[in-house]
Amino acid sequence: MVTARKEAALAMRKTDVVIEVLDARVPRSAINPIFEELRRENGRAALKVLNKSDLADPERTRRWLAWFCSQPGVKAIALSAKAPKEAKRIPEYAQALAPNRNSPLKPLRMMILGIPNVGKSTLMNTLLARTVTKVGDEPAVTKSHHRHELGRGRWLTDTPGMLWPGIEQGAALKLAATHSIGRNAYDNAEVAAGLGSYLIDQYRPLLEQRFGPIPEGSSGHGLLQVIAQHRGFLIKGGAPDLERAARVLLGEFRDGTLGRITLEIPDAPDA
Ligand code: G4P
Repeated sequence: MVTARKEAALAMRKTDVVIEVLDARVPRSAINPIFEELRRENGRAALKVLNKSDLADPERTRRWLAWFCSQPGVKAIALSAKAPKEAKRIPEYAQALAPNRNSPLKPLRMMILGIPNVGKSTLMNTLLARTVTKVGDEPAVTKSHHRHELGRGRWLTDTPGMLWPGIEQGAALKLAATHSIGRNAYDNAEVAAGLGSYLIDQYRPLLEQRFGPIPEGSSGHGLLQVIAQHRGFLIKGGAPDLERAARVLLGEFRDGTLGRITLEIPDAPDA
């Protein structure tokens, strides 16, 4: 982690615009605080890319875009891998944030970062498909960073998807729900119960469409029981199979079957 931070600090100094890919369903929790601190310390502009917006609540995405864009030196856009045309405009948006960096002598140096599973590779593939020149003899900033030329006078440094130590519990739960934290690091039923409790509070109609009526006062664990009963998931002896219900809830949230859902609201750290 110390090495990764040092590498990131070095890369940040040689960057004009940081392109940060965020999961539009958790725009706050997906921000890597280490990179964000480095970016601010170095006074670098940022393009916040709210990816997977096809899965996120459109009204909340609008609020997040306005919130990010109200910060100095920050522009935010909402994207979906399903709309590669828009993704190809990323360099254009970055250029607008650093208008003086627009020639081979003063190239636009972009760095793209994002925690695992936010769709960074998908976006990179879209960006690189058209214009990239893979660089052989041009040294990247560090061994783990790859540098690509995106047309004349535009460079893009790719960084590995990283999490950080000591992720706060609420954020960890959301990142597990969106699959940014690997499945071996958490308990499905616990994450699904946490997600379920938020969804009962904020998106009850979507749940009821899929799983039938949810009794008033139900907890996240109560929701897993409702799902198990509704789907007839039973274990030996006839008890509800909560693990299977948890997998269904997480799966239907992750792939958008439940509907378009965002787990965070700007300026409301607990919502
Ligand atoms: P990463 O490099 O940031 O780790 O993410 P990557 O591009 O590998 O994308 C992770 C998963 O998210 C992939 O699904 C990918 O297809 C999906 N994805 C990326 N962008 C979007 C988007 O805008 N909308 C939607 N709906 N999906 C997107 P996968 O390979 O099936 O992985 P998984 O979902 O099973 O983890």
